[in-house]
Amino acid sequence: MSLYSRKNPFPAPLLVNRKLTLEGSEKDTRHYEFSLEGSGLAYEVGDSLGVLPANDPALVQDILDALGCSGEESVPGNDGAPKRLREALLRDYQITQPSKQFIQAVAERAGDAGLFLREMLDPLRKADLEKYLWGMEYIDFLQAHHSIGFTPGEFVKLLRKLQPRLYSIASSQKAFPEQVHLTVATVVYQSHGRQRKGVASTYLAQRAEKGTPVFIHSAKGFRLPEDGDVSIIMIGPGTGVAPFRAYLQDRKASGAKGRNWLFFGEQRSACDFLYRDELEAMRAAGVLNRLDTAFSRDQAHKIYVQHRMAEAGPELWKWLEEGAHLFVCGDAERMAKDVDAQLLEIVRKEGGKTPEGANEYVENLKKQKRYKRDVY
Ligand SMILES: Cc1cc2nc3c(=O)[nH]c(=O)nc-3n(C[C@H](O)[C@H](O)[C@H](O)COP(=O)(O)OP(=O)(O)OC[C@H]3O[C@@H](n4cnc5c(N)ncnc54)[C@H](O)[C@@H]3O)c2cc1C
Ligand SMILES: NC(=O)c1ccc[n+]([C@@H]2O[C@H](COP(=O)([O-])OP(=O)(O)OC[C@H]3O[C@@H](n4cnc5c(N)ncnc54)[C@H](OP(=O)(O)O)[C@@H]3O)[C@@H](O)[C@H]2O)c1
Repeated sequence: MSLYSRKNPFPAPLLVNRKLTLEGSEKDTRHYEFSLEGSGLAYEVGDSLGVLPANDPALVQDILDALGCSGEESVPGNDGAPKRLREALLRDYQITQPSKQFIQAVAERAGDAGLFLREMLDPLRKADLEKYLWGMEYIDFLQAHHSIGFTPGEFVKLLRKLQPRLYSIASSQKAFPEQVHLTVATVVYQSHGRQRKGVASTYLAQRAEKGTPVFIHSAKGFRLPEDGDVSIIMIGPGTGVAPFRAYLQDRKASGAKGRNWLFFGEQRSACDFLYRDELEAMRAAGVLNRLDTAFSRDQAHKIYVQHRMAEAGPELWKWLEEGAHLFVCGDAERMAKDVDAQLLEIVRKEGGKTPEGANEYVENLKKQKRYKRDVY
């Protein structure tokens, strides 16, 4: 049993921060390795790592400037104990996407300029407010409405606690007993004339500390089949490949006999083929029995993992009928839905079923814990 948990994260030394995407990529996706030595932390493949980030010091400075503060002012930290404002903004509070209470306070205090916001706060206009707030941060309101004059204490009271972010673990302790690896896409985007940075992914890329606070988040619903003879089909485009790197390491180390089939997708084969060498080595070693790739931007029309699934429909159906487990990891909003629809279509076509029959078959896979998803 480890001393460390979500409430008491382990300060893990960062050993490796390596860019996986190459020149020509539109992404900055990185491979991280942390040491768990001395922590007693244990994880299973399929679990996630919680990372408690710190905010961007440059953004903290911009907020201090907009508030007219030095940062030395005393405010309650998120545990209620007094703290310097700069430190509280760095480590205790979420200082990017604004809270509803903050928007309400701005609307009330900004006089005529707040009228628009007051209208948007009408419960009937919830969707409009969400649309308006997409890509807006605290700093935009503080800079636009100098007159609101929040004191440090008032401002901090309107903030939410800074939350940890979860990342699928990309390693197996059978291969790396004292380490945990991650695959993270750095979130950076432009909105309202400013460059925005995802808190945890840019913290990892640029500012991860000697001791990055981490904890294990167990995912019992995303485990490998206990029986190593069972075949698995893994669908993991983008950073969704992370847990499958861990699965392959695990099955290699345990000498599991079950077959392993991976569908991987990204934008361009030349610069976005994450872990290409490792996957090809796994293939050569006979651990990865089949690797189907879908590079969406290597040709004029989009090719996604679900298109490769369709092409391999008869074989995929055969694997399922032989008892394979199917795993999906990555983007929840679009990919996981389309993959689910494709799975239903394969079951309908290859299994000669009605749409209802296909639904029933897939529901059964879920009940038998043979269709598992970890999507975000
Ligand atoms: C179980 C689980 C496993 C995960 N595994 C992984 C993984 O292996 N690898 C990985 O990279 N991620 C993974 N994630 C996602 C990860 O937890 C973070 O959500 C992600 O890294 C972004 O966090 P951040 O702190 O960098 O960004 P945040 O500071 O949280 O910013 C993200 C927010 O920025 C806003 N935003 C983003 N893009 C735009 C845009 N273009 N325009 C306007 N607003 C925008 C949105 O409000 C969005 O919610 C996983 C999530 C879960 C729940
Ligand atoms: N909610 C969103 O709108 C959105 C958008 C992008 C990323 N994200 C999030 O950003 C994070 C990192 O993303 P990532 O870099 O891992 O990879 P990703 O954005 O999921 O992209 C990986 C691959 O999936 C393709 N793809 C796009 N739509 C798809 C669909 N409907 N079905 C199947 N494949 C599809 C992409 O193609 P193309 O890029 O060529 O379309 C790309 O080739 C994840 O948290 C993801 O959820 C969210």
